[in-house]
Amino acid sequence: MGVEIVGLGKCLPEKVVTNDDISDLVDTDHTWIIERTGIEQRHIAAGESGTDLACKAAEEALGNIDRDSIGLVLVATVTPDAMVPVTSAQVKMRLGLDHAVAFDINAACSGFMYGIWCAEALMKNGAAPGAGTMNIQRALVIGAERLSRITNWKERSSCILFGDGAGAAVLENNPKRPGILATYLKNYDDQKGVLTCGKEYHQTPFYKDENQPQHLALRGKAVFKFAVNSIEEVTMEALKQAGLELDDIDWFVPHQANGRIMEAAAKRLNQPIEKFQISINKSANVSSASIPMALYDLSKTGKMEKGDKIAVMGFGGGLCAAAAIIEW
Ligand code: ACO
Repeated sequence: MGVEIVGLGKCLPEKVVTNDDISDLVDTDHTWIIERTGIEQRHIAAGESGTDLACKAAEEALGNIDRDSIGLVLVATVTPDAMVPVTSAQVKMRLGLDHAVAFDINAACSGFMYGIWCAEALMKNGAAPGAGTMNIQRALVIGAERLSRITNWKERSSCILFGDGAGAAVLENNPKRPGILATYLKNYDDQKGVLTCGKEYHQTPFYKDENQPQHLALRGKAVFKFAVNSIEEVTMEALKQAGLELDDIDWFVPHQANGRIMEAAAKRLNQPIEKFQISINKSANVSSASIPMALYDLSKTGKMEKGDKIAVMGFGGGLCAAAAIIEW
């Protein structure tokens, strides 16, 4: 039995923020940003909630698919609109997915990949009894972020990197199609705290914590190194499981963190950069939404053909990484 992607959707907030706009906020310029990151612009929510973005992306991915056939809704996000109710529950309610079980996932920028892994396992192996979870025919996996909420807009080496948006995929059980050929996940320990956000403790009558709420913070060079190393490791492991070689892959869809990371990964894997989907120029790094958005962009190029093999690679805070090999 195979699990394949049968629908993709994407939603970006209306407001476009250019590198020149950012240079009004911090001491930077378009040339520095484009040369170091490949980012030309990003979309920033100004009114849209994360749930709004998730719902619009999901609606496009669903198209004419029968909503009653959706047994599972997973939303990967590090920026939920609220801790409770979770974003997936809001999406389920707004879209009328009455037979779905819904929960959120936080695996930082790899969240969408962890969602695909969970959904595939539940769909293939049969989930424990619960409303909608017996024999899941279709699942909706979404990555949705409003990173602008946790960005430190006074810190020039990080605020240039991030954007807002959502991407969604509908997965379907199909015994006749191979779909996802392999997935490989790995968690590396972030012993030095190279990628962090949060540490927000509410004061209670019983405990006083001096920590202030903390923005998204990164040690750029360390993250860069981790990204290139982990992309190589998880991709090679996933390929091994699929019984394929690097040259069998037609398209690579990495998490969009930095154009130079993708170039370095292409070199490390000895693959032409033309095989890599690059979407970072128009939408920057959107954490767990980056990968479904990039998959969507690739599908819209018209270059992909049925039977093409795609390697999808995620990496991010935690530190977590994941790769999936998919037959289109
Ligand atoms: N504009 C102008 N100058 C800048 C800017 C800026 N926006 N930001 C930093 N600089 C300066 C620094 O102050 C430094 O100046 P100095 O030499 O006088 O001290 C100089 O540029 C070099 O700074 P570096 O931090 O060494 O620059 P680097 O080439 O490493 O690029 C970057 C920084 C873009 C963050 C890069 O390290 C990177 O992309 N890292 C990995 C990606 C990443 O961390 N993504 C974040 C999300 S995590 C994820 O998605 C998994």
